[in-house]
Amino acid sequence: MSTLAALGGTPVRTESFPEWPVHDERDIEAVSDVIRSGQWGGYPYPGPRTREFLDRFLEMQGGEYAVACVNGTVTMEVALRAADIGWGDEVIVPAYTFQATAAAPMAAGAIPVIVDIDRETYCIDPKAVEAAITDKTKAIIPVHLGAQMADMDAIMDIAERHNLIVIEDCAHAHGAKWRGQGAGTIGHFGSFSLQSSKTLTAGEGGVLICNTAEFAARAASVVDCGRPHSGKGNEESGNQFLMGANYRMSELQSALATVGVERFPEQAAQREEMAAYMDEALSEIPGIRLLKRDPRHSTRSFYRYIFAIDPEVYGVNHEAICYALDAEGIPCWTGYEAMHHYELFQPQLSKLPVPSVFPERFNFSEMHLPEAESACQQEAVWLGESLFRAGPKGVDDVAAAMRKIYENREALAKKAAEFRGE
Ligand SMILES: Cc1ncc(COP(=O)(O)O)c(C=O)c1O
Repeated sequence: MSTLAALGGTPVRTESFPEWPVHDERDIEAVSDVIRSGQWGGYPYPGPRTREFLDRFLEMQGGEYAVACVNGTVTMEVALRAADIGWGDEVIVPAYTFQATAAAPMAAGAIPVIVDIDRETYCIDPKAVEAAITDKTKAIIPVHLGAQMADMDAIMDIAERHNLIVIEDCAHAHGAKWRGQGAGTIGHFGSFSLQSSKTLTAGEGGVLICNTAEFAARAASVVDCGRPHSGKGNEESGNQFLMGANYRMSELQSALATVGVERFPEQAAQREEMAAYMDEALSEIPGIRLLKRDPRHSTRSFYRYIFAIDPEVYGVNHEAICYALDAEGIPCWTGYEAMHHYELFQPQLSKLPVPSVFPERFNFSEMHLPEAESACQQEAVWLGESLFRAGPKGVDDVAAAMRKIYENREALAKKAAEFRGE
């Protein structure tokens, strides 16, 4: 049995994993073309490259209407404003997500109501959603996390029964499908980030898919300083201004994103193939729980590959596992903090209007969300998509490193106890 690299042994892997984002001559040509055109920014909205990008994106993801935006946080705020959701309204979000999912409702003046996740998928638990509905609830933002999708059948059923708007947070779900239908096209809105770590990127940027021409027209107004817009083409029309700001994506970003869409199918196929291989390799290692593969989630996308370790089997939690895995040459993270523990949402620490004015809705210190807490504090291990681009050897190295950690679990637990001063 070889010694763990974290305890002075030789790492499983010394080679680095491929960098992200990738580019080729097509990106350089597309950006140069925009520079030569003289139309660099996003005004008038939408510019020709932005329109082309949105059309290509809709072909890939599905849906009829889309608006381009500066990022995948503002997209959600824009969706709420387009649906006329704001001050004092309640928006249900999962506890396991990036802060943007809860910050966007707050930016629109709404109250994020944080609920627990499903242990099997790490996505929002529909039962918890149903239990959190009040007469102020106006929307649900399910997050498709890592490589998973929230149970969209259950979410849409709840939304229909309670007359709620659904905004899918698809920052991790480009290309994903639920029963053959693109993520982001099942709810009323689908919010996508094009930030540099995402599987489709323009450095920064965002796309909001809207399910009606009216929502698209209102969303286009909000991103274009409130100027009046019509639906499909989003060209200016009428003179009725909405409250908005300059949230436009630039033509330079749209040119990069269009090349990204061209490259996407090949990258997605490689990730899917390697992820299936990873499922097999990790399922043979004791103390590892793979997240549920729901057959309704017909096409998976892999922004992050997340699995759970059993702290009882390893004698340590995910922090020590990630420390050891990283030392073996496998970059990994413990993932997000549970949303209700973020300082941002503590009324006594916040000068933001929403938590300060509605402190009774932000009583998070007493909130206990067991599944999110166990994922965030004990179990979850996050791997980046780059290891799928390293081919089967990348996957083999992850599995070899996890097996080595399993075999050395007693030594690791002893070291962790020493570290804690026990
Ligand atoms: C789940 C989730 N939602 C929203 C966002 C926000 O995207 P952006 O960084 O483009 O604002 C992110 C970004 O990482 C995310 O992970």
